[in-house]
Amino acid sequence: MSKRPEDIARAAFAEAFGGHPTALGRAPGRVELLGNHTDYNGGLVLAAAIDRSTVVVGRPSAGRTARVRSANLGEADEFSVDVTHPGESPSGTWGRYVRGVTWAIRQDLGPLASGFEAALAGDVPIGAGLSSSASLQAAFALFLAGAGLSASPGGPDPDEVAKLALAQTLRRSENEFVGVASGLLDQFSALFGRAEHAFVLDCRSLDHELLPLGHPAPAIVVCDSKTSRRLADGMYNRRRAECERVVEHFRNLKPDRPIRQLRDVTLEELEDAWGDLDPIGRLRARHILTENDRVVRGAQALRAGDSARFGALMSASHASSRDDFENSSPALDALFEAAEESPGFLGGKLSGAGWAGCTVNLVRAGEAEAFAESVRTGYDLRTGLVPDVHICHAADGATCRAIDET
Ligand code: GLA
Repeated sequence: MSKRPEDIARAAFAEAFGGHPTALGRAPGRVELLGNHTDYNGGLVLAAAIDRSTVVVGRPSAGRTARVRSANLGEADEFSVDVTHPGESPSGTWGRYVRGVTWAIRQDLGPLASGFEAALAGDVPIGAGLSSSASLQAAFALFLAGAGLSASPGGPDPDEVAKLALAQTLRRSENEFVGVASGLLDQFSALFGRAEHAFVLDCRSLDHELLPLGHPAPAIVVCDSKTSRRLADGMYNRRRAECERVVEHFRNLKPDRPIRQLRDVTLEELEDAWGDLDPIGRLRARHILTENDRVVRGAQALRAGDSARFGALMSASHASSRDDFENSSPALDALFEAAEESPGFLGGKLSGAGWAGCTVNLVRAGEAEAFAESVRTGYDLRTGLVPDVHICHAADGATCRAIDET
């Protein structure tokens, strides 16, 4: 695994603050393998953390000021560790995330011990649907724990309950401070990922289970369409509202039942109500409910070691996103089609919010390089764009450690 983000963060730290950092937090990006837009509908997701990560290095400092540098962007931010509202971060989105974590940790775990100096760097592609933001949040939270600044969980094997609480703290920070209404998937993945495994998460009960990816494990190949969108740009929230309107319909239809989310509606009930539902809403709901079912069947396939069956479910998920949820795009569809005709392809789909960013593909072990080459050519032929192709493997979730300079 590349050590570059750590080296880059440490060099940026030395340049900005001098001396040595005392603690490091690291957290991975993630791919959503099945369960697209199911998380905030109380549904099921199946995902894996990947071996691309954000690293934060730093040390406590006297006073109550936080000074943070982003090595990737060459930008700096400075704020009070007792921050109470977003304010004007000169560093844009990443600064807002860092401030948001500080804010949420103070609310949930108590005030930070002191100010600090920190530098961050990462190799999770930004704005590509791989959740670089949750990876930044988790790496930053774990740095705070590792530096003794907060009481959040740390160490090589943090307690499950504390990790789950931290995932929820980080999600709240993204929802309430950054202003992005995301579900729990991203923060959960950054904290709970495991090498050579995917996991299934029930977003209602928070039950989760690690699932082996098989031996030899297929590669997780992420293809970046080189089209990027901002998550906060409104499409995501619009889809949430469309799903909520269907829930509202069923709530009125069945006043005796506690219907809170699409999770509380069955596919059969959706079919029965089809003619009375608004034509957009019923498609959105069909995607969510069939997607929950694909997660159940996908988990069974992985337990049975059947990666071909799992891959077929991923491709069915892409079709459902494209046709029913309408969160694909011509570029993502072209990337999917280029992948479908490439060697080693087991299955693929768009990953994350959609509309732009990446597809994720499961590719037979040993064929990832040939697959990557073929996708580059196929996508270029269709769109005139050359995709970035990242051959990834499932990775462990966030960790922190002390940095010993002796
Ligand atoms: C984004 C959100 C996640 C999830 C996915 C879609 O990545 O941050 O919470 O909703 O979109 O599955």
